[in-house]
Amino acid sequence: MAASLLVCVLLALLTGSPTDAQLCQKVDACSCKLDNGTVVSLHSLANTDGGYAFKAAWEGDTFWYNPCFGFDQGSACHDVSLCVNWKDDPADRTELLGTVQPSFITVINSTTVAFKYDSGFSQDSEVYVTCDEQAIEPTFLSHGKDPDYSNRYIFTLTSADACARHAQCKQVDRCTCTMDDGSGNLNLHTFSRPEKPWEIAVPGGTVYYNPCVGVSANISDTCKGAAVCLKQGDTFVNLGSALSGVFVTDENGDVILEYQNLQDETKTTKVTLTCDPSARVEPVFENPSLSESHLSVTMKSVCACAGSCMFPARTCTADDTCSCKLSDGSGTISLHALDNPAAAFKDVATTSGVEYTFYYNPCSGLTVGLEACMNVSGCAYNHVAQRYTALGTVQPDAFTLDDGRLIIAYSDKQSGTSYNLTLVCDITATNPKFAFTGSRLQNSYDFMLTTKCACADECATNGLK
Ligand SMILES: *[C@@H]1O[C@H](CO)[C@@H](O)[C@H](O)[C@H]1NC(C)=O
Ligand SMILES: *[C@@H]1O[C@H](CO)[C@@H](O)[C@H](O)[C@H]1NC(C)=O
Ligand SMILES: *[C@@H]1O[C@H](CO)[C@@H](O)[C@H](O)[C@H]1NC(C)=O
Ligand SMILES: *[C@@H]1O[C@H](CO)[C@@H](O)[C@H](O)[C@H]1NC(C)=O
Ligand SMILES: *[C@@H]1O[C@H](CO)[C@@H](O)[C@H](O)[C@H]1NC(C)=O
Repeated sequence: MAASLLVCVLLALLTGSPTDAQLCQKVDACSCKLDNGTVVSLHSLANTDGGYAFKAAWEGDTFWYNPCFGFDQGSACHDVSLCVNWKDDPADRTELLGTVQPSFITVINSTTVAFKYDSGFSQDSEVYVTCDEQAIEPTFLSHGKDPDYSNRYIFTLTSADACARHAQCKQVDRCTCTMDDGSGNLNLHTFSRPEKPWEIAVPGGTVYYNPCVGVSANISDTCKGAAVCLKQGDTFVNLGSALSGVFVTDENGDVILEYQNLQDETKTTKVTLTCDPSARVEPVFENPSLSESHLSVTMKSVCACAGSCMFPARTCTADDTCSCKLSDGSGTISLHALDNPAAAFKDVATTSGVEYTFYYNPCSGLTVGLEACMNVSGCAYNHVAQRYTALGTVQPDAFTLDDGRLIIAYSDKQSGTSYNLTLVCDITATNPKFAFTGSRLQNSYDFMLTTKCACADECATNGLK
């Protein structure tokens, strides 16, 4: 007993684990959850372009830091989070001070947590991250060696972005949001029943509720396109259009789906989504409160628990070269509003050591580089060989749904190339973003297009915008 205790203490000393310090539970490489459920996240401070985010100097030594993602620097730092160049070394000679994954994160006080990084060698480091609501710019400083532990280097990072807050649910489409702490989606698609919407009893009447696509027109003409339709006697009132749904996370961390009538903004609804794993089959509506033209209600469901509700199986049937209709009645995904043969989407990227410019235009295709890319949907320009290659015809091979995302597969029989375009629905993405995401086999490429037009019914289905 005594011996095993001694071993524990020795182990703790050797590995440097905190024995009594309170831990901030690691969520990923650069965020952690405190006991009260709030999250300290360095995501907004990280450099996502493969470089470092912060540089600091201390008595002639130079330090580089990037939380979340690794970077390369000098001779010895490859895919690291902390790197140093000692003052007596040549400028490109570096040493690793910390890998991307911290070994643990401890709570220092109400505004500070410490990220402890190991190097795998004798040296390690600790970054004290302090929340300062007043800080306009983040400050990263080196403080040299820990006076109590000579192989440890101490840094401080102070920022308003490092303050503990509840995870926010970021809007995906009109009835799905994704938690920014990586815990998953809140997804109401399973509950879409336009013909037989959910009924919520309110004083003097009934509220019909159907998230995602709204109630069917046969409920009442007044409620066409409404997700929330109030019936009192013979009158129907639209208390929120399906296409107005917006997710808001309040200061308690509760996720609220807010609606308004798009024709009359005084008519609104707030649905507070409460995670309830026992409400597996049907949602449970509680505490409805109706005043004037505003409804607030709580919806308890397993689908309000992050990552717990599956997308129902769906297919998307092609209407033409760049739009398809979803099988569950939630609408049409159409890229027509993005079609412009004269200004194709472009991305420059390096693959297999060669720089390429990739071009894409949906619907009516594009023509670049004389014969090579004539009337195609995608084209690649190889900067070394100075050659254009067609990637796929205007007509896609298939529209496939994968985990709620639409993948359009294209190929070009003549050049033997093919590519998949993954559409990412983000209703806040009014400026579409096109990116090359990799090449799998030879002559087969992957791209991603993030746009609100990847969400059902957010963009016009024909050429009209
Ligand atoms: C918390 O700890 C940090 C680092 O040790 C220190 O700079 C800061 O003043 C402390 N803040 C409070 C509120 O104790
Ligand atoms: C949660 O705890 C942290 C650290 O003690 C504190 O700064 C924060 O204000 C607390 N947040 C809430 C909502 O209680
Ligand atoms: C609307 O139509 C569907 C079938 O098309 C039917 O099942 C449903 O009962 C109708 N709803 C109302 C309120 O009439
Ligand atoms: C472009 O290619 C598509 C098939 O991918 C074809 O249907 C269309 O007629 C072609 N247009 C022109 C102008 O050649
Ligand atoms: C493209 O997507 C289809 C359907 O999901 C899949 O079968 C195929 O392997 C993918 N091809 C590439 C090149 O990614």
